[in-house]
Amino acid sequence: MDNLLLAKPVLKEIYAQIEDYMQSLEPETPRPRLDVIMVGENQASTSYVNRKLELCKKFGIQSKLHHFEELSHTHLLQLIRELNNDHFVSGILVQLPLPANIFVPEVIKAIDPRKDVDGFHAYNLGKLLTDKEFETLSPCTPKAVIKLMEHYQVPIRGQNIVVVGHSNIVGKPLAVMLINRDATVTVCNKETKDLSFHTLKADILISATGVANLIQPAMIKPKAILIDVGFTKIDSKILGDIDPSCLDKAAALSPVPGGVGPLTVAYVALNTIRAHQWHIENS
Ligand code: GUN
Repeated sequence: MDNLLLAKPVLKEIYAQIEDYMQSLEPETPRPRLDVIMVGENQASTSYVNRKLELCKKFGIQSKLHHFEELSHTHLLQLIRELNNDHFVSGILVQLPLPANIFVPEVIKAIDPRKDVDGFHAYNLGKLLTDKEFETLSPCTPKAVIKLMEHYQVPIRGQNIVVVGHSNIVGKPLAVMLINRDATVTVCNKETKDLSFHTLKADILISATGVANLIQPAMIKPKAILIDVGFTKIDSKILGDIDPSCLDKAAALSPVPGGVGPLTVAYVALNTIRAHQWHIENS
């Protein structure tokens, strides 16, 4: 195994999959289309959304950005219903966070699960719970972590894996996907009493908290495999959750930047073509 688990070679595989699908489409078939809804001004969201839209463009996936400075909860639900009913829309993504006037669970519930390219809808999360074969539209960052592990042949079955961070976007679905693959999973969060007690036992440590350099060398088991899913920008410098000096003690590190991030964006495009394929096969 390489000791730096980088996204680049994995991206090649995913891009090839997307290209193959796009080339397989008959000329008269409408192209896949991703509609992204963004409410408010948030620098990080703008940057994530731009990356998603740029990647779609690169592969000929159509896209439309619905950006509002302000939007009522009711109008957002109305827009989602319109996009659900629009046959030209393959995927719908509502960028998070949303302003406080909008109740996120209800928004996610309103998205047609077949167009839910984030994999956040209860229907898709429920499917995820049953078996890894049902991870069709699953959350992009956890999927990216699993893909990275598979590419670099990081063993999952029977491993003690500690996930730091229990968000709906990363930690919770990732823990389920790892359990589906027979790992022994511990999920920590900001209330965990003695974080090191848990992290020191991890054969594989995955951190997704957004707390820069949270994981220090003294907190890891020698020869552990470390996967960083944190992202913090401080004075235009990008930092992950895992202090890079941990690599001296670890067997391998997937770093930030250069690791999971670009793979997450690629999975948005891949989920869009999956949703498109489902629509074509069932209409
Ligand atoms: N905000 C941060 N990560 C994500 C994501 O994966 N999907 C959406 N919709 N919003 C996010």
